[in-house]
Amino acid sequence: MPHQLRKLAGTPFQVMPGTLPQVLPKSIVMTNGAVCAGSNRCSGFISSTGLRLEAGLIRGWGAEGTRERTYFRNSRSPSNNSIDLHLTHSEAPMKAALLNAFGTPLSIETLPDPVIGTGEVIVDVVATGVASYAHGVFSGARNYLLEPPLVPGAGAIGRVRAVGPDSTRLAVGDWVYCDPTIRARDNAINPDTILQGWTARNPAALSLHRFYHHGSFATQMLVPTENVTAIGDLEERDAGKWCALSQLLVPFGGLLAGELQPGDSVLVNGATGGFGSAGVVAALAMGAAKVVAAGRNQQKLDELARRLGPRVSCVRMTGHVDDTRRICELAEGEIDLALDILPRGASASQVLAGAKALRRGGRLVLMGGVRKTGEDEPALPYDWLMHNEITLRGQWMYPRVAIPQMVSMIRAGLVSLTKFNVTEFALDDANEAVAFAADNAGPLSLVVIKLR
Ligand SMILES: NC(=O)c1ccc[n+]([C@@H]2O[C@H](COP(=O)([O-])OP(=O)(O)OC[C@H]3O[C@@H](n4cnc5c(N)ncnc54)[C@H](OP(=O)(O)O)[C@@H]3O)[C@@H](O)[C@H]2O)c1
Repeated sequence: MPHQLRKLAGTPFQVMPGTLPQVLPKSIVMTNGAVCAGSNRCSGFISSTGLRLEAGLIRGWGAEGTRERTYFRNSRSPSNNSIDLHLTHSEAPMKAALLNAFGTPLSIETLPDPVIGTGEVIVDVVATGVASYAHGVFSGARNYLLEPPLVPGAGAIGRVRAVGPDSTRLAVGDWVYCDPTIRARDNAINPDTILQGWTARNPAALSLHRFYHHGSFATQMLVPTENVTAIGDLEERDAGKWCALSQLLVPFGGLLAGELQPGDSVLVNGATGGFGSAGVVAALAMGAAKVVAAGRNQQKLDELARRLGPRVSCVRMTGHVDDTRRICELAEGEIDLALDILPRGASASQVLAGAKALRRGGRLVLMGGVRKTGEDEPALPYDWLMHNEITLRGQWMYPRVAIPQMVSMIRAGLVSLTKFNVTEFALDDANEAVAFAADNAGPLSLVVIKLR
């Protein structure tokens, strides 16, 4: 149960009577902005929003207008009824990698700190993933709907720096996942949507993009409250690994949309890519009996099978009609659910080779970046869909509820983050991170910018 300290005008903090746990020391005072506790081992500042106390936990943050901000965490010592405050981190002004214009390198700059409003949270970004195709977004080749100059970057792991007045659960210092999928609040059925720092789904969503403009390649980020999910405590050194959440959630959204059932045989078409391989991990965690991983690169397929175990079997896609038959053989004729997450360059025949492996009554979920025109467009035959009673579903990203579900699967050990190889770069080396991600796309590999 939370306990609050109330800030009075002037210097000292006063404790609201009757609200504090017995073990709180009498020595927490504020003198000229400094927090002193017990032996005065550390000091910092108290914000106008106060110091929040939960059972056994003290968190505070810097006074507005001060450049230096400090988090505190306490450890209780039941024997002497005292609380030690430990400095967990402090930081400099907001630093970011800025995309000034399409086709220009990211420029590392100092930007004004974001200013919090109602319905928002400011997060200290600790780690953020770099997509294999980030270079195509920043060069403009992908034609993403986004308006530079901006700080790019979709999704982050970080710690809450400040919460708006309407937040009921989040507390300063909480470890969180920042979901880039921002849905407009003024249309429940068909909300205009953006990926923060990445793209707007349609021109109508541009006002949202202009407001939540900056993404995660920065030390701080302003995020709508509903896009911030607490993920539980973790060691700062593990924040890079937790960026796998972004990779996992995308295919997880597709597998949820395809209503994966325990015992299903699942095909992942594009399984050697970043999102595809995470899709294999997610399908196994959701109870698939067999996952057929389809890709063109035998070496990457072998690596995937070796790392993910006997429920995974692999098919090297050759581009011939034979591909479908070999998938069916591996699945003993019964693919219940096919997740297509092929990249933009994939051909129509690659898409169809996977789709056609479905059993009668099977479900096909399309999530890939495939964009073709005319004859190159994958044409799913009417007669095949009808006679085979196929359910066809497109899916962009994932519902909000998928986030705590995936976090629970990770916490329960159903999904192991140790399956992912993480390569970390500092923010100063953001351009190198983007180039590295493009050159080293592969199964279960994450490229991460580490901000702290
Ligand atoms: N729907 C959504 O919500 C959503 C969200 C995020 C991303 N996406 C889309 O998901 C797609 C995959 O992203 P990713 O990051 O996983 O990509 P990636 O890491 O670059 O992987 C793509 C993989 O596809 C395989 N591939 C098959 N045919 C290919 C071809 N003709 N040309 C190039 N590669 C080919 C490659 O492996 P092999 O060489 O082994 O075949 C490659 O490793 C992207 O296009 C992206 O737009 C969708």
